[in-house]
Amino acid sequence: MESRKEKEALFHDIKGKDFLNMTEEEYQKKYPSAKFYSVTNASEIYVDKVISKLKGKKVLDYCCGKGKLSVKMARMGAEVVGIDISEESINAAVLAAKEANMSERCNFIIGDAEKTPFEDESFDAIVFSGVLHHLDLENAFKELARLVKKNGMILGIEALAHNPVFMWYRRKTPELRTEWEINHILTVSNIEMGLKYFDRLTIRYFHLLVLLAVPFRKTCVFKALRALLNGIDAIILSLPGIQRLAWQGIFIYRKKK
Ligand SMILES: C[S@@+](CC[C@H](N)C(=O)[O-])C[C@H]1O[C@@H](n2cnc3c(N)ncnc32)[C@H](O)[C@@H]1O
Repeated sequence: MESRKEKEALFHDIKGKDFLNMTEEEYQKKYPSAKFYSVTNASEIYVDKVISKLKGKKVLDYCCGKGKLSVKMARMGAEVVGIDISEESINAAVLAAKEANMSERCNFIIGDAEKTPFEDESFDAIVFSGVLHHLDLENAFKELARLVKKNGMILGIEALAHNPVFMWYRRKTPELRTEWEINHILTVSNIEMGLKYFDRLTIRYFHLLVLLAVPFRKTCVFKALRALLNGIDAIILSLPGIQRLAWQGIFIYRKKK
């Protein structure tokens, strides 16, 4: 295996093992960036709406990690296959599916997302979250285009590289990510590169000012503050020029017929 991929597998094996063996408090202490997910409810609502249309479809969770999204899609009625290079993450995903009583609708395999064992056009849809910055982008796009059926959907939920404050935080906390990851956070141009393989790209932008609510997440004002800042984000992140400063871009491609 290439050394980049070995490093990815090792880093996520440690994280997967910690997830299984630590209490939530211990895990949050070791991986403090987990706290930022307390304010991602707006993008989760949007993603839920998209994946709720995948009932009965064969869906690939590309680099599924600990299987959170796989289990959610299975609960919504999708037939899910998850692939990840980290054995410990796959162990956590298998356990998550079992605990949710979703094992029959979830199949997980350990493998390289840039060179998967699946046949051409195996999936109606492919979904990934926090993934492309771990891969060689051109290899990933080629593989995604090979695996999805004609007119199938690709949904990506990814961090963006345009906000200098977020990039500063990422560089200041190298222990929380792999070296490859820091240097390959996606730009909007990277997302547009996918149009070489797919068409009908739509991008929605999420989470900017709402991150100011994170320090208040254990207080009684949190929900109201989060709702207010989500409302402001919905307005400012619709403005071209400002929108790419968002933390996350959520994009959908369709494969040409
Ligand atoms: C940030 S995690 C995201 C996991 C999951 N999608 C989620 O939302 O929780 C990135 C995942 O990519 C996996 N990964 C990195 N390189 C990979 C590769 N070449 N093939 C398959 N998985 C890979 C890692 O093991 C890790 O689980």
